[in-house]
Amino acid sequence: MNERVGNKKLWGGRFSRNTDELVEKFNASIDVDKRLFESDIEGSIAHLKMMAKESIITRDDADTLIKGLLKVKKKIENNEILFSASLEDIHMHIEDALGKVSGDVARKLHTGRSRNDQVALDVRIYLKKETRIIIELLYGFQKSLVRMAKSHLDVIMPGYTHLQRAQPVLFSHHLMAYYEMFKRDIERFEDCLKRIDVMPLGTAALAGTTYPVNREFTREVLSFAKVSDNSIDSVSDRDFVMEFISHASIAMIHFSRLSEELILWSTSEFSFITISDSFTTGSSIMPQKKNPDVAELVRGKAGRVIGNLVSILTLMKSLPLAYNKDMQEDKEPLFDTVDTLKICTSVYTRMLENIKIHKDRMYDACKHGFLNATDLADYLVSKGMAFRNAHAVAGRAVACALNMKKELNDLSIEEFKDLSELIEEDVYGFITIDKMISRRISYGGTSFDNVKNAVAKAAGELGL
Ligand code: ARG
Repeated sequence: MNERVGNKKLWGGRFSRNTDELVEKFNASIDVDKRLFESDIEGSIAHLKMMAKESIITRDDADTLIKGLLKVKKKIENNEILFSASLEDIHMHIEDALGKVSGDVARKLHTGRSRNDQVALDVRIYLKKETRIIIELLYGFQKSLVRMAKSHLDVIMPGYTHLQRAQPVLFSHHLMAYYEMFKRDIERFEDCLKRIDVMPLGTAALAGTTYPVNREFTREVLSFAKVSDNSIDSVSDRDFVMEFISHASIAMIHFSRLSEELILWSTSEFSFITISDSFTTGSSIMPQKKNPDVAELVRGKAGRVIGNLVSILTLMKSLPLAYNKDMQEDKEPLFDTVDTLKICTSVYTRMLENIKIHKDRMYDACKHGFLNATDLADYLVSKGMAFRNAHAVAGRAVACALNMKKELNDLSIEEFKDLSELIEEDVYGFITIDKMISRRISYGGTSFDNVKNAVAKAAGELGL
């Protein structure tokens, strides 16, 4: 006898009228959550193994259903399953397809679970894998950064504050600043994995289940680190999604800052770098143009991921416990964030390896704009003057040089003496660009030795 009662929905028992056509379309999430099919099948297989072990269903039934689920998986992979709004989401599609493959026994699969703990499990299985992939991609990007730093160890560029030339720094030191930023991103994702790696299945709709489920066994089959402790929290928790997107937003902000710099550096005004033709595009009207589209797009996509963060935070704000249908909307921002961060990291890793550095332009830029003013003050301090006074003298030296359209090192010794009797001939050797770099030996500073050590340490950490 066909035990299906009510309308044709899997949950249709208490309904006497069919779902409105527009509502069916509106309610469906299959277009988005179909990408969870592998996780869903993996979770269902673990659930069946657990149920057989605990004699909730027979071993024979479990074996039939596991074989059936593997067939369903093949069918989905071969595009043999037609997705339709009437079956709502991926969970319903898989159960329906299983019925077609294995017969009525498929109706036992959903014993002792709910779609609420099922979807929480699926997203966690999916995100655990993706987070690990993203961490690997970020390591790959760091390798590009460190390789570039290593091959340009002694290149000197102006360091900026307020986007005004400030003090000379090693280009490799500047790159290693990004290495540090992405190192923190990796740490954040690794830490977030601890919260993702929690197994919610067996908490059912919200209250737990009357069946003797062995959640510890399910956890082991699925290789999760721990089982969730509170059934209500298990089905309503999306902290791990918010956390993931928030870390992704920070990583994207880091990419956007690098993008902004690459875009600036590749202008004819700066001309510090040339981005390879393979990572730029032309203009349809201006034949001379070579645009840094990749960097611009990544900069733009940071906005999109930040938008996803605002989406998920707003979605979860004020939601009463436990599951609410609003939460179906968590997947679009999550999937989009995963996709965006992955493609941006991959494309950046390749682009970086295809950038040419114009060492001479960078060095020349250090000669203009009084980047040695601080060092002139330091020189006076070395001759016994208090720093505040030295700062004032160096400031007057800048004003004086500006007036004469000179750089500080072009001032004559008489002009220097007019500013301070403490200044001697040795000032010229003191305020050279190379000396400015090599004197910055404070830990974490830009001296040649410091940066060489930092690059070597990073290379070691990355196994380069
Ligand atoms: N498609 C739903 C989601 O993604 C699955 C959970 C549905 N649960 C329910 N009680 N309607 O959130």
